[in-house]
Amino acid sequence: MATALRHLRLGVNVDHVATVRNARGGMHPDPVRAALMAAEAGADGITAHLREDRRHISDDDIERLRTQLHVPLNLEMAATDEMLKIALKHKPHAVCLVPEKRQERTTEGGLDVAGQHNQLAPFVRELSDAGIRVSMFIEAEIRQLEASRSVGAPVVELHTGLYCETPAGASREKQLLRLQNAAGHAEKLGLECHAGHGLGYDTVGPVAAISNLAELNIGHFLVGEAIFVGFSAAIGRMRILMDAARAPLTAAVT
Ligand code: PXP
Repeated sequence: MATALRHLRLGVNVDHVATVRNARGGMHPDPVRAALMAAEAGADGITAHLREDRRHISDDDIERLRTQLHVPLNLEMAATDEMLKIALKHKPHAVCLVPEKRQERTTEGGLDVAGQHNQLAPFVRELSDAGIRVSMFIEAEIRQLEASRSVGAPVVELHTGLYCETPAGASREKQLLRLQNAAGHAEKLGLECHAGHGLGYDTVGPVAAISNLAELNIGHFLVGEAIFVGFSAAIGRMRILMDAARAPLTAAVT
């Protein structure tokens, strides 16, 4: 129950600010400016995914985020030699290992940690030895949780995409239950548990109410909503919804 008291951190993903910038190839809008604004608006950390094809975040963005941010930077990346070199150069607070396919529009599905144990274990060790907190972006499956612990990752991030895409009702409840069970199992294994992908105002509440979660990472919805209300207001509203979902849990133990 002690975990329910913990502040649920909000990591704001700024990838899609870079998507808009790159549509014209210039400097505007700058994801680093958005990241600084997000931190000011209450983001506990900033997440950025440096993809192999550099379709949104660039190497220069990572360099500038690393030097200008005063909140932790979570670098999402594929487990490749190129990305390992970049992570070891910049030493972000955290690295989240994600699967990556060139053709996909976004990160489809979680990393198959169980199937890639031998490649991932030394990778995780090298990052950890450099003082970087490593998380594995996985589906809410027991075998992936156990494999994540076995490769030495201290953190897992549960993929919430399926839950968010499922229409509200019994089927979505089933997806929520999967996330709840996985978060509970992660805690039993001694893993810190995060969640993210596809979350918006309509879907965040039940996920934020899972007491074993320590952090949510949210990007696309916030950047889209910023068009209508501004980035700070969108982040502020998300923070309110997360805190409201969490309030009954913290009240129960105080
Ligand atoms: N967490 C991870 C590991 C991701 O890959 C992404 C998408 O880049 C997110 C969270 C955020 O997803 P969204 O942009 O749909 O909120």
